[in-house]
Amino acid sequence: MDLYEYQGRDLFERHGLPVLAGGVATTPQEARAIAERLGGRVVVKAQVKVGGRGKAGGVKLAEGADETVARATDILGMDIKGHTVHKVMITVTADVAEEYYFSYLLDRANRTFLCIASVAGGMDIEQVAADTPDKVVKAPIDAVEGVDEAKAREIVDQAGFPAEVADQVVAVAVGLWKAFVAEDATLVEVNPLATTGDGTLLLLDAKITLDENAGFRHPDHEALVDQAAVDPLEQAAKEKDLNYVKLDGEVGIIGNGAGLVMSTLDVVAYAGERHGNVKPANFLDIGGGASAAVMANGLEIVLSDPSVRSVFVNVFGGITACDEVANGIIQALALLEERGEKVTKPLVVRLDGNNAEAGRAILDGAGNPLVQRVDTMDGAAERAAELAAAGV
Ligand SMILES: Nc1ncnc2c1ncn2[C@@H]1O[C@H](COP(=O)(O)OP(=O)(O)OP(=O)(O)O)[C@@H](O)[C@H]1O
Ligand SMILES: [Mg+2]
Repeated sequence: MDLYEYQGRDLFERHGLPVLAGGVATTPQEARAIAERLGGRVVVKAQVKVGGRGKAGGVKLAEGADETVARATDILGMDIKGHTVHKVMITVTADVAEEYYFSYLLDRANRTFLCIASVAGGMDIEQVAADTPDKVVKAPIDAVEGVDEAKAREIVDQAGFPAEVADQVVAVAVGLWKAFVAEDATLVEVNPLATTGDGTLLLLDAKITLDENAGFRHPDHEALVDQAAVDPLEQAAKEKDLNYVKLDGEVGIIGNGAGLVMSTLDVVAYAGERHGNVKPANFLDIGGGASAAVMANGLEIVLSDPSVRSVFVNVFGGITACDEVANGIIQALALLEERGEKVTKPLVVRLDGNNAEAGRAILDGAGNPLVQRVDTMDGAAERAAELAAAGV
């Protein structure tokens, strides 16, 4: 989960890192109140989860409350690389002398953590790395040893931070690593890490990504989720503990096992090319050993998507045998009727693997006119795409 800058600023503050006082506003009136509280000259910054806000005109200085209102009015509603600005952060102005770059991230390719530091900060670090690679230090961080004072000093020396700020950068490097670990982040990036005229070091920007897989040990991270950006179907699926991702097609997909579901998306997309270009409407993995209740929950989510015109249930019986799955589907449809959900969209079911014959016999025996059985994955994908294209 990516955080907004203001959330990152708050997080840095909680971890004792030097940030400027500030607040977040969704209206020019709220921006005025913050500017009055802070007093003097402020910076109004667009809050969007994309880089290059400054260049796009999303970072502006304002002298006093009236100008803050004017700048907030300009920036709120602005489009920055396809992201609409709904919030602005107001902070006091720093008298910036030097701008540096500092980050920690998870380096998946090398199975390690990485510190990237540069005295040429403030601008696009990718550009600095391309033009003057010797100005960018990339230091692997051992997950167990982490960043202590000695390691921090090594990085600071390597990157060539000036002697006057070295101690402060070391303290920030150690503190930032503690925050990175404590919050289960996969990225903390500070650009610029700036010095002011009087030589004080400040974190003037915050880009943080938190590892959602560690969410269970951070109940407080839940509050950082941007509810406005959450897809309502994905939210409903999450509440039911389903592994669901909304896509933009018309064929609802339910399968057991992430790999099978991924390949189901592919075969449906290929089949769709022959049927009016229909596409998969979602990813949904109900997992091995799915009960009728889980199947019902899955069907309910998929069928409640208004773009879905047919559903492809693709199950390979393993530990859970196909007869149980077939019973699950029939019971799930009955459960939905009981819940008052009138099912009208056709279901194409492919059962294979453990006890497939018995499962197929159960589906046939139930005689539900909405359920069509096709025994091959390609054939079922073709049928589901055809039904979606026909809009039955
Ligand atoms: N509080 C502040 N006081 C003075 N100058 C600031 C302040 N905050 C930011 N700036 C200046 O504005 C520039 C851009 O700010 P910032 O780094 O937050 O945005 P950005 O880099 O354009 O956006 P992004 O990081 O999303 O690409 C900084 O490099 C710095 O020079
Ligand atoms: Mg920046």
